[in-house]
Amino acid sequence: MDTQTELDKIKQAILAADVTPELSVQALNLVMGDGNPNADIVFIGEAPGKNEDEQGLPFVGAAGKFLNEMLAAAGLDRSDVYITNIVKYRPPNNRDPLPEEKQAFWPYLARQLEIIDPKAIVTLGRHSMEFFLPDARISQIHGHAVRKKVKYHDGKEHEWLIVPLYHPAAALYNGGLRQTLIDDFLKVPEFIKGLK
Ligand code: URA
Repeated sequence: MDTQTELDKIKQAILAADVTPELSVQALNLVMGDGNPNADIVFIGEAPGKNEDEQGLPFVGAAGKFLNEMLAAAGLDRSDVYITNIVKYRPPNNRDPLPEEKQAFWPYLARQLEIIDPKAIVTLGRHSMEFFLPDARISQIHGHAVRKKVKYHDGKEHEWLIVPLYHPAAALYNGGLRQTLIDDFLKVPEFIKGLK
């Protein structure tokens, strides 16, 4: 079975299980991901916003435009990478996803990662960083590549290369943070060079 077909099965599983019914009832779309299902780099954001909910694609609003610009500056395109979120339905009024909503989607995100099997996982903001590096502080660890064994819900473990970055929406209108994020972002291709 090809990778995209396997990823489509996760979408069906989320719909069948009606994960987070209080979010799905208000959402227009289940936003699974975008990009290359065989990518070397997977970017993980927080949750869809209004534009993402309307279009059914992650990072297509202002934060997405900034993400696209940073990808281009790093010599990458959206079709070279895979972009997804922890929570796959828009939280009402763009509130932060609740811990139980993040937990509910974690097995499905873990399965996406298993299927895509990237060389590096780039977390955007602390909501997705927490799953991989629960004790880390984003202000200290941003822009560093960390090898980490992650335990899945079924007890299986996988070692990933995690690169925590600030969230593009947080950095967009904050001059200092914006430059920090751009500088960190440009290091990402270097981290995966030479990795099998
Ligand atoms: N912010 C996110 O975390 N994800 C999106 O898809 C859009 C904005």
